[in-house]
Amino acid sequence: MTDLKTIRGMPDLYGENIEDISMVEKVCQKTFQSFNFQELRTPILENKSLFNRSVGESSEIMQKEVYEFKDRKDNLLCLRPEGTAGLVRALITNGLDNDEIKKLFYLGPMFRYERPQKGRKRQFFQAGVELIGDQSSDADIEIILIANTILEKLKIKSDLEINYLGNVENLKNYNDYLEKYLSETSDLPDYVMKNPIRALDSKDENIKNKMSKAKSITDFLNKDQSDEFFKIKSKLDEIGIKYKENVKLVRGLDYYNGLVFEFLSSDLGAQNAILGGGRYDGLIKKLGGRDLPATGFALGVDRLAEVVKASSQSKDLFIGCVDKESRTYAQTLGYKIRKENSSLIVENYLGNASVAKQLKKADSQGFKFAIIVGQDELKNKKVKLKNLKEDKPDLELKEKDLLEHFEC
Ligand code: HAM
Repeated sequence: MTDLKTIRGMPDLYGENIEDISMVEKVCQKTFQSFNFQELRTPILENKSLFNRSVGESSEIMQKEVYEFKDRKDNLLCLRPEGTAGLVRALITNGLDNDEIKKLFYLGPMFRYERPQKGRKRQFFQAGVELIGDQSSDADIEIILIANTILEKLKIKSDLEINYLGNVENLKNYNDYLEKYLSETSDLPDYVMKNPIRALDSKDENIKNKMSKAKSITDFLNKDQSDEFFKIKSKLDEIGIKYKENVKLVRGLDYYNGLVFEFLSSDLGAQNAILGGGRYDGLIKKLGGRDLPATGFALGVDRLAEVVKASSQSKDLFIGCVDKESRTYAQTLGYKIRKENSSLIVENYLGNASVAKQLKKADSQGFKFAIIVGQDELKNKKVKLKNLKEDKPDLELKEKDLLEHFEC
């Protein structure tokens, strides 16, 4: 039954998988908000031309990975492969590309038709930030601090790699140089012929060899740009953020200039990039908006979730029942306890299993406490609170004391 199959690379998410993903999303959202970034949500469908003009027509993403289709009016649309272009489009469309500095974040699904493997899916989730309107290296530092905070909170070990691409002119000069430099190399793939800079992250051994002797992009920077790169590195040193310079790091999307960076994790095999970003000063103007500087990053929520393998969430109170008659009282207790402390996870068991089975279930699901409500509890408004994690005697509590026990 093909209609019941999931689409390759787009798994249903349930159980532990969704717990890990949603935990990572929550940490990202809280961190973004703690840096005073505001959410901006765009549709998952955009005109394909938007990505051709931003991510780049000759990029691997637009050449091979985009899900595109025509709608009923023959408009060529695509599922968004990334979040930056849509966010910039939204700024322009809504007249938000003004002088005020914008600190924005987004979370949501992205789509790339890649070969699925560990850490690589066709529908995956990104969390990203974009800092619009600030030209200073402090803005680059601010977004690296956000990235670092998230990775620290999730206790993920990773290595930060940085590079500096200069401006559109430098990139053009470097591209021209590479075009000449690679011109005698036979069998150059199409994507390198179209955009020689892509030779830097090519996996082709022949190109890799040749590129090991090529000049690097930093050789093409002018004094101001080299100074800016130096300033960023000094600030990272001052804050104590470790990094490695990687002159081959160019990123797979065309809109970058200035500082670019990636965080890599050794726990993921081939798909080791967990977070990537950088400066894209020309993009807003190129797409038809004001000439505003911008920088940002996106992280792969699924990839981080694979690395953290969340310690399953600890749950607080399991409220079981001896019989159907006492269930409404059990539900009232659960309702009141959640009102006392909305961060608690409280289960009201609604099935008919024996008390022994209910307690086993509570234990296996990771609950810290359990109470079982029956006729006595209903009559006397008193319960026995069982500690499922520590070997302690049951606590006999009146309803009022039980509520106090769980209040925040
Ligand atoms: P990106 O490097 O293409 O950058 O993607 C960011 C992150 O998304 C990657 O580091 C990776 O963790 C995750 N990712 C990418 N493809 C997949 C996949 N097929 N499966 C699972 N995870 C994946 C961007 O998208 C830029 N828009 C980032 C940015 C924001 N630059 C400036 N602002």
